[in-house]
Amino acid sequence: MANIIKIMEGFSFIPRSELNLLEALESQKVDVEYQCREGFCGSCQVQLVEGEVEYTSDPIAFVPEGRILPCCCHAKSDLTIEIPGGCHFKKPE
Ligand code: FES
Repeated sequence: MANIIKIMEGFSFIPRSELNLLEALESQKVDVEYQCREGFCGSCQVQLVEGEVEYTSDPIAFVPEGRILPCCCHAKSDLTIEIPGGCHFKKPE
């Protein structure tokens, strides 16, 4: 069954299963910070409020308790996350 990703500010969506969490957020035009996209830098981290994620590769970056790296994990259950600085959407180019 597909999991639901909910962002604290109230936006929710069902991600495509082949996408990691960062790609899933990007597919919804959610503005998330990132650099390496491989678990090295830690810049993509978000707060995991509720739910469980599964890492596709072990993150190298230090991840504080309660935080996750969306670039190298996907949802294992319904998730509620909080994006530092709030949930913003990319403007159309
Ligand atoms: S973008 Fe570098 S750890 Fe996720």
